[in-house]
Amino acid sequence: LSVSSSLSVKASSSTAIAEPEGIKINSVSTKPIEGQKTGTSGLRKKVKIFKEENYLANWIQALFNSLPPEDYKNGVLVLGGDGRYFNREASQIIIKIAAGNGVGKILVGKEGIMSTPAVSAANGGFIMSASHNPGGPEYDWGIKFNYNSGQPAPESITDKIYGNTLSISEIKMADIPDVDLSTLGVTKYGNFSVEVVDPVSDYLELMENVFDFELIKSLLSQSDFRFIFDAMHAVTGAYAKPIFVDKLGASLDSISNGVPLEDFGHGHPDPNLTYAKDLVDIMYAENGPDFGAASDGDGDRNMVLGRGFFVTPSDSVAIIAANAQEAIPYFTSGPKGLARSMPTSGALDRVAEKLNLPFFEVPTGWKFFGNLMDAGKLSICGEESFGTGSDHIREKDGIWNALLQIPYRITNLSKCRAVLAWLSIIAYRNKDKKPGDKLVSVADVVKEHWETYGRNFFSRYDYEECESEGANKMIQYLRDLVSKGKPGDKYGNYTLQFADDFTYTDPVDGSVVSKQGIRFVFTDGSRIIFRLSGTGSAGATVRIYIEQFEPDVSKHEMDAQIALKPLIDLALSVSKLKDFTGRDKPTVIT
Ligand code: G6P
Ligand code: ZN
Repeated sequence: LSVSSSLSVKASSSTAIAEPEGIKINSVSTKPIEGQKTGTSGLRKKVKIFKEENYLANWIQALFNSLPPEDYKNGVLVLGGDGRYFNREASQIIIKIAAGNGVGKILVGKEGIMSTPAVSAANGGFIMSASHNPGGPEYDWGIKFNYNSGQPAPESITDKIYGNTLSISEIKMADIPDVDLSTLGVTKYGNFSVEVVDPVSDYLELMENVFDFELIKSLLSQSDFRFIFDAMHAVTGAYAKPIFVDKLGASLDSISNGVPLEDFGHGHPDPNLTYAKDLVDIMYAENGPDFGAASDGDGDRNMVLGRGFFVTPSDSVAIIAANAQEAIPYFTSGPKGLARSMPTSGALDRVAEKLNLPFFEVPTGWKFFGNLMDAGKLSICGEESFGTGSDHIREKDGIWNALLQIPYRITNLSKCRAVLAWLSIIAYRNKDKKPGDKLVSVADVVKEHWETYGRNFFSRYDYEECESEGANKMIQYLRDLVSKGKPGDKYGNYTLQFADDFTYTDPVDGSVVSKQGIRFVFTDGSRIIFRLSGTGSAGATVRIYIEQFEPDVSKHEMDAQIALKPLIDLALSVSKLKDFTGRDKPTVIT
């Protein structure tokens, strides 16, 4: 099943490097600007900073200066964004610099809108998004670059870009008028052209290749199946109606916050228990819907809920992996390998072990999965930060995840084989089900997974926008501590197996990244991990990840916060978090 080839708009590899013809290129002189180093996922700053003279233009030009010319000269690049404030202005700047550097064609989503997974499906380009960070004049903006197979640019490129931002002196800008982004169609300027495209159609085609839409439709159009998708006034608002309603027959009121807004309706478009509280309240209300999902600013994150039940992202990827081969046509010959980010719980490790699949632990950041996918070593992966995906594209994918899980209530067993993961899980559990019998729910599926594999209790505490100085000192203090730590050291009731600051060697290209998170791993498999977020735009966000494995089924129903209390207390005392940051409460708990 070749799902991406039809979408390939990879930059032409033609070696004839022609200068742009028929348009005038202005050479704009500029000076280096400090601080343009990309974080976990692109360059993210306050809008005010991006509006400073040449701030965005410098970075875009530095990017072109970092790429081999044959990667973009006369090639096609995609441009999309999550609809946030400043995207319109930014689109025009990016288009002019792309033309000025010899790009042949820009495909841009209508109104500048295109989700991160959709841009990734199109094999590379620019994404104007600060993902799940709030938008508006006072808030955040961001830019990400995806490379030729659609994966986030690797550090080898982002490091070069940063280097070039420090020595830049000239921006090449095409002297063309602003492009009308509101009308579909092609506009030519000499031998450069811009095509305004429908951001949904190619992505929808990809989804139709991965999933059985008829089957999903037969469920979503049933009146007793209640489904809710919360687009959080972000980019998936543009996708939800065409896909869920028009194509799959869901009722219009199953989409909430479905209109993309420049400030996300004053919201924080991050699908977690804190920021998607509206959805959580609906799902936990008496007689709530059967299935709920939400997606973030740019459409790559997801949260999944059953009625009164939250599926942790770490469990979600493990459950998908455990059932993929049986259940999803795309994986009929079995997943090639599984991977998670280092702080994500070990639930996936247990599935890999049982299925005898290659397994990889990478640093936080989706970009680290790309090489493994390109090398054919990895099919399914996920992160605790509400990302799940597969090698159908090179980004995590919120709608893919929702589609994957929606059909859990389909009752026509004969059709269920080899269709969708959650569908098959339910099909197996409902083998003897007669019409009218109670169906197996999302909660039942997860609990049965725990029975087989054990439960990895997991929680993350975030302390957002701390003073950088204190947060950095805390990390330094922890680094010193782990460098002295010895196996067998006692930490309360826990015995240290090892402690380190995570280093990753990419098995494909041998590149090494260090200082990716401080881990205390105890002999019973429990872990405490400390990191500073790489996606914030102001101050420092401290993340503490806490995990404990529990094989005893009688304890699986426990609330994670209660089960993890001793480890959480230990994490706070070991790190002296309160002394260093002055915080006594996290801002977000997931
Ligand atoms: C983005 C990235 C993810 C990452 C997440 C959290 O969504 O695509 O790969 O896990 O941010 O990153 P952070 O550095 O803020 O913990
Ligand atoms: Zn995102």
